[in-house]
Amino acid sequence: MTAPEALLQVRDLRVDVAERNVLKSVSLDVPAGALLVLMGANGSGKSTLGLTLAGHPRYRVAGGSARFAGQDLLALSPEARARAGLFVSFQAPPEIPGVKNNLFIRTALNAVREARGEAPLDAFDFLGDARAAAARLGLPEAMLGRPVNDGFSGGERKRNELLQLAVLRPRLAVLDEVDSGMDVDGVRAVVQLVQDLRAQGTAFIVVSHYLQLIESLAPDAVLRLDQGCIAETGSLALATDIARTGFVRTAEAQAA
Ligand SMILES: Nc1ncnc2c1ncn2[C@@H]1O[C@H](COP(=O)(O)OP(=O)(O)OP(=O)(O)O)[C@@H](O)[C@H]1O
Ligand SMILES: [Mg+2]
Repeated sequence: MTAPEALLQVRDLRVDVAERNVLKSVSLDVPAGALLVLMGANGSGKSTLGLTLAGHPRYRVAGGSARFAGQDLLALSPEARARAGLFVSFQAPPEIPGVKNNLFIRTALNAVREARGEAPLDAFDFLGDARAAAARLGLPEAMLGRPVNDGFSGGERKRNELLQLAVLRPRLAVLDEVDSGMDVDGVRAVVQLVQDLRAQGTAFIVVSHYLQLIESLAPDAVLRLDQGCIAETGSLALATDIARTGFVRTAEAQAA
């Protein structure tokens, strides 16, 4: 019997940014419903991987492949990737002046609902769901009526990324340091939302530098990216080790 194909299969992915080769060779599998933690020193390429999967035009795929839900992910437009059930949060969420947050999120939601064969939500039904999700995430309701991230604080921007995640219910979510800059209640809301969505079958790649969050998420695997390559794969013990010894992973450091 052959094993079922993983939800996301990345093979020997090589990515250039502005004439510089940032990802040298990245291979990983995310089975449906699994939670992977991706760690790595600053500049090792974690955000590059997420933004490449999302289809950001600045990240040029120079080799390798990525299959998502049985499709050639790299051949799809960014919006087709989202409709197929991929969600990638921004480490630094951009402002979109002039575009109201609730209209932005409802438009995205109705596009993925259409792809899932679900009826679109009208403004009234959407607002009810969005308000409830915002309340669970500790995001003031007024944020729904403001332009996307316009004048939002750092933590509010992160909560707004989580609001999109909660509403869209993707098949795979890549969360890029969504906990950084968040207060203690915000981090708790991240853990709760991830647990809720996992119970509904969402898989995750979580990028984080914080052991406490990583432990709370009980990952299926922890991967360490180093200079554009997956250098180590392990269990939660790998994250504990990194927290203890840092990213310089010499044999002596690991034995200490
Ligand atoms: N537009 C660009 N021009 C030149 N170099 C870039 C550009 N974008 C990214 N890089 C470089 O690519 C490397 C990887 O960046 P990336 O943002 O993926 O790192 P990261 O692992 O997410 O780091 P951090 O933990 O700090 O978020 C860095 O050295 C960065 O300077
Ligand atoms: Mg990053």
